[in-house]
Amino acid sequence: MTENTVLQLGNPLLRQIATPVTVFNSPEFLDCLSSMQTLMESGNGVGIAAPQIGVAMQIVIVASRPTNRYPDAPEMPATILCNPQLEILDPTLIKGWEGCLSVPGIRALVPRYQAIRVRFQDREGKSQQIDLKDFPARVFQHEFDHLQGLVYLDRIESSRDIVAESEYLKLIAH
Ligand code: NI
Repeated sequence: MTENTVLQLGNPLLRQIATPVTVFNSPEFLDCLSSMQTLMESGNGVGIAAPQIGVAMQIVIVASRPTNRYPDAPEMPATILCNPQLEILDPTLIKGWEGCLSVPGIRALVPRYQAIRVRFQDREGKSQQIDLKDFPARVFQHEFDHLQGLVYLDRIESSRDIVAESEYLKLIAH
């Protein structure tokens, strides 16, 4: 079932393990993609994962772009990644700010790999590969975690790395 809002932290559906997409042209799959896109855009998000709308399928969208939530994000075309597999290209862990449409009002510093390669299937089911680094790599790793029932707060090193969104906006103001 597709929700018409993004599920919020505490909803057990966010903790489900997603299963692979096997049928790429079903009404359910297409409906899920369209809801993910709509909710990501209306929430000014730079990515979203199917479990966030209550669908336990391995689908994420990565769409780094400058928004009021991430004013310094680099622009990239919105990319739909089904059944993604992650390979680490640069194991250096870099801490950077993340938020989540499922965890409103706060931000935290999260360690993520600097460069990764992702093998995935596109919306037609065709095999693809993409190399990502820095912020887009961070967004993917965040969304990939949602497929395993993880949220970014599960990855932080210290509760001191959590701030209110209002304080985050002050920190990045320039
Ligand atoms: Ni998220």
